[in-house]
Amino acid sequence: MKSKIEELQHKLTEAKLGGGQQRTDRHHQKGKLTARERIDYFLDEGSFEEVGILVTHRTTDFGMENQKFYGDGVVTGYGTVNGRLVYVFAQDFTVFGGSLSETHAEKICKIMDLAVKVGAPLIGLNDSGGARIQEGVRSLGGYADIFYRNVQASGVIPQISAIMGPCAGGAVYSPAMTDFTVMVENSSYMFVTGPNVVKTVTNEEVTSEELGGASTHATKSGVTHLTAANDVQCLEDIKTLLSYMPQNNQETTAKLPFELGDEIREELANIVPDNANKPYDMRAVIDGIADADSFFEIHKDYADNIVVGFARLGGRSVGIVANQPMSLAGCLDVNSSKKAARFTRFCDCFNIPLLVLVDVPGFLPGTDQEWNAIITNGAKLLYALSEATVPRVSVITRKAYGGAYDVMNSKHIGADMNFAWPSAEIAVMGAKGASEIIFKKEIAEADDHEAKLAEKEAEYADKFANPYRAAERGFVDEVILPQNTRRKLIKAFAMLEGKKVERPNRKHGNIPL
Ligand code: HXC
Repeated sequence: MKSKIEELQHKLTEAKLGGGQQRTDRHHQKGKLTARERIDYFLDEGSFEEVGILVTHRTTDFGMENQKFYGDGVVTGYGTVNGRLVYVFAQDFTVFGGSLSETHAEKICKIMDLAVKVGAPLIGLNDSGGARIQEGVRSLGGYADIFYRNVQASGVIPQISAIMGPCAGGAVYSPAMTDFTVMVENSSYMFVTGPNVVKTVTNEEVTSEELGGASTHATKSGVTHLTAANDVQCLEDIKTLLSYMPQNNQETTAKLPFELGDEIREELANIVPDNANKPYDMRAVIDGIADADSFFEIHKDYADNIVVGFARLGGRSVGIVANQPMSLAGCLDVNSSKKAARFTRFCDCFNIPLLVLVDVPGFLPGTDQEWNAIITNGAKLLYALSEATVPRVSVITRKAYGGAYDVMNSKHIGADMNFAWPSAEIAVMGAKGASEIIFKKEIAEADDHEAKLAEKEAEYADKFANPYRAAERGFVDEVILPQNTRRKLIKAFAMLEGKKVERPNRKHGNIPL
C-alpha cells in the first residue's frame, strides 16, 4: 500500500515527463528544450515554484477522459531572474501539442492575476498547436480570457512573449498584445492563417517559415522585436530585457552604483562627417554616450532608419530613440514612426527615461508613404512623445528639418532638455530646397542661375544651418561639444529624476491608430 506522499511523488514524476519519453525525444530532435527545461534554464537555480501541477482537463468527448496528463500541457508558476520575482508559463508541446484547453487557459489566467496583484513581470513561453480541437468553444473562451487579461495588465506589469514553436490562428493575439516578442529562428512561426489556407484563398504558395518565421517577422512585419538562434539565446535575451525594466508601473528601474568621473568621450567628436549629405552610423553615437556595452537594440532589422533600444547611462536605464542617417538618410516613414512610437510608449508606461538623438531631414516623400498613411502613422510618434511624462532629453547631432524637428522630441512637445551639437542644422528644410523656393525670382532673373542659387544657398545655410538661432529662442537649451555629451546627459537625467507631471483628467486619449 503506497503512502499518500509516495503517491504524490509518483504523480509528480509522471507530470515531469510531460507527454512521455517518446514525445520528449521527438521534441529534443527538433532542437527544442521542453517546457520544464526552459523554465529551469530561465529562472535562478532552485527558485521555481510550480502552481497547478496536478491540474487535468475536464473533457469527456472523443475519448479524452482516458487521456490525461498532469499539468494539461502548460507549466505555470513563479521564480526569480537575477533575484527579481517573475511569473512564467511554458506551454508543453509534448502534451496534446501544447494545445490550449479550458483548464490550460485557467492556469495561465491564474498566474496572470497573481502577477498583476503582486506587480511583477509575466513571461509566456509559447509552443502550441493552438485551440484544443477536442474542446471547441471552451478553448476559444480560454483564449479570450487570456487576451482580456493581457489588456488589463498592459502598462501595469511588463509582459514578454517568447515564441518557441507554433503559434497560429487567434493564438497570435496574446503575444501581439504583450510588450515584447522574441522568436526562435527556424523552430517557431506565427500567422493568423497558415500556408494551406493561404493557398486555398489566394493561390499563393508559401512555406510556414516564409509566411511567419522569425526572420519574416523581424524584417517585414515587425511583429517580433527580437530573434534568437535557439531556445537558450531566446531565454538569455528575455533576461537581458528584464534587466532594463522595473517590476511594475509604480517602480523605477534599479540604479547600478555610479559616480561621475571623467565622462569626456573624444571619439564622439569625429562621428558626424563635414559633408552634411554623408551618412554615419548613429549606433556609434549611442555607444559613445552609453555605459560600456550597455546598448540592447530592439527591432534591429525592422525600419532601420530609426534605432530604438535600451541602454544605461550612469548606471540607470534609458530608452533610446535615434534617427539613423545610414538608412533612408534618417527620414521618418510609416514603419519607423510606428516602431518608435510603440517603444516610446513602453518606456513611458514603465518610468524609463527617454533619450532622443536627432538627425532627420524630414518625412519620406512618395505615393507609397502617403497612401500608407504617413499622416496617421507619423502622428503616432508625435502623439506618443507628446504624451510621455518620463524625463525626456534630446540631442540634435545634425539635421532637424521641418515637421520632423517638431516630432523628434522638440522642446515644444515637452522635451525637458534639448542639446545640440555645433553641427546641428535646424530649419524648415535643407538650404538648397529652401533657396530654390524663396529666391525663385532672383535666381530666374540672374545671368548665371547656378551661381545665384549657390550664393543664396550659402546665405540661407549661414543663417539656418546651425543651432544658434534655435538656442537664441531657447528651443535648444545648450550647444555642446560632442565629446561632452555623455557628461551632460548623465547630469541632466540625474536632475530630472524627481520629475512629476499631472495629466488632464480623462478616460484615455485617442492616439491615431
Ligand atoms: C489538440 C493537438 C492540436 C490541437 C496538435 N495536437 N495540435 N491536439 N488540439 N490544436 C496534437 C496532435 O494530435 C499530436 O498528438 C501532438 O499534438 C503533436 O502534433 P503533431 O501534429 O504530431 O506535431 P507536428 O507535426 O510538429 O505539427 C504541429 C502542428 C500540427 C503544425 C501544430 O499539430 C497542427 O497543425 N495542429 C493543428 C493546428 C490547428 O489547426 N490548431 C487550431 C488553430 S485555430 P499525438 O497524440 O499524436 O502526439 C486556433 C484558434 C485560436 O488555434 C482562436 C483564439 C481566439
